[in-house]
Amino acid sequence: MEGFLRLGLSSWLIDQCSQLGILKPSSVQENCIPPILEGRDCMGCAKTGSGKTAAFVLPILQKLSDDPFGIFCLVLTPTRELAYQIAEQFRVLGKPLGLKDCIIVGGMDMVAQALELSRKPHIVIATPGRLADHIRSSNTFSIKKIRFLVLDEADRLLEQGCTDFTQDLQVILEAVPAQRQTLLFSATLTDTLQELKTVAMNKPFFWESISEVKTVEQLDQRYILVPEKVKDAYLVYLIQKFQDEHEDWSIMIFTNTCKTCQILNMMLREFSFPSVALHSMMKQKQRFAALAKFKSSVFKILIATDVAARGLDIPTVQVVINHNTPGLPKIYIHRVGRTARAGRNGMAITLVTQYDIHLVHAIEGQINLKLEEFKVKEKDVLKILTQVNVTRRECEIKLECTDFDEKKEINKRKQLILEGKDPDLEAKRKAELEKIKKQKKKFKEHIQETMQKKRDAQVQRKRKKKHLREKKKKAAQ
Ligand SMILES: Nc1ncnc2c1ncn2[C@@H]1O[C@H](COP(=O)(O)OP(=O)(O)OP(=O)(O)O)[C@@H](O)[C@H]1O
Ligand SMILES: [Mg+2]
Repeated sequence: MEGFLRLGLSSWLIDQCSQLGILKPSSVQENCIPPILEGRDCMGCAKTGSGKTAAFVLPILQKLSDDPFGIFCLVLTPTRELAYQIAEQFRVLGKPLGLKDCIIVGGMDMVAQALELSRKPHIVIATPGRLADHIRSSNTFSIKKIRFLVLDEADRLLEQGCTDFTQDLQVILEAVPAQRQTLLFSATLTDTLQELKTVAMNKPFFWESISEVKTVEQLDQRYILVPEKVKDAYLVYLIQKFQDEHEDWSIMIFTNTCKTCQILNMMLREFSFPSVALHSMMKQKQRFAALAKFKSSVFKILIATDVAARGLDIPTVQVVINHNTPGLPKIYIHRVGRTARAGRNGMAITLVTQYDIHLVHAIEGQINLKLEEFKVKEKDVLKILTQVNVTRRECEIKLECTDFDEKKEINKRKQLILEGKDPDLEAKRKAELEKIKKQKKKFKEHIQETMQKKRDAQVQRKRKKKHLREKKKKAAQ
């Protein structure tokens, strides 16, 4: 308790913390809370599960209690699930204040959200896309007077990944006041430092936890080298093993695509494992329901794409399995950080094929630690190999019979409309491009064919000449 008092936090907030079992400040809290209370911009880089959320929630609540008005603070975060999680921390810690918060994420009713925004909540927690839509389309609310802007998972919000937030972020940054406190947090800030500094304009205080290894100490990190074809058999084997050896267990499995995520979930269910999927092609309600059931341990296995890789705080997760080796070390750090949180133990197992070895080296280089091999009796895996592969194939066929790919197409169209593009025109453009590409390919093939014919003819001519020469020689002899 004294620790938090020393940082300058009020006793009512310290009481709230103790109710959550937060008794002593973590390193990131100890180092970032005082400068935030002093009014400085702050960039905090600390390992996964180290309490970064409370490091910004606590000082904001304290400042809000001094001078309450709405909209006081805007928190941006890359995923919808994370927005809800952060809102919950604000709610629990800010309960004595009668805090009004508002969550603005995609997949929910926009009209209801606009109404909530117009009621001036103290805290708005949003994903950039949906908030930017509200700013573009409505004048019933203003974020011109906010005191705090927080970017949680700040590096993800600034990078140009498959979901690119930069344009939406631009709209939002133009709508907030220049005079504000900006707080940026992530477990992986360092490679976006320059961009981040331009968002935090007032000479930000930068704090990074000094540690040789970039992942959590209590995390046991393993790999299994597997041929692609037997990957799923290894997965089933591993889950069976955990189920047999542990009474209370909970696993998160990460996959690279929504489709694989869906298929693996179907497959594991065929083996009677209590699994549930979470990916961006699911409806929002399904996404929430899946996560809620996993959090409450109704389902012991969550199979997810990288939509669940960052920030989610589910203390029961003991094991993370990477069904594919992440292409970027950063993604690996966040994925495996879903376990071994807040001082707990945990294990991460990455399935590595012969084509991914260079990715593992890149990961090891970045985290500064060698992954250890997870020893498996291959014989036991081979016993279930055929059954697993047949089941997977059956699940693939089942999925093909549903409208999964069609839904994907519809989602793509929706996305284009949101981006202000005409899907039919885009389709035409794409078809046209495809045609040009085909023509080019045909032309290239034609040229290659002609060249080959020429070469063949040349060879023939040479052969003929040689033959003639030899004939002449023989005749002369
Ligand atoms: N000082 C503390 N002592 C003990 N537990 C804490 C403390 N601060 C926060 N926690 C708990 O630690 C867990 C992880 O916190 P949090 O989600 O904020 O981590 P994070 O640093 O944001 O991780 P990530 O990088 O994965 O987002 C939460 O359950 C939180 O309640
Ligand atoms: Mg976090």
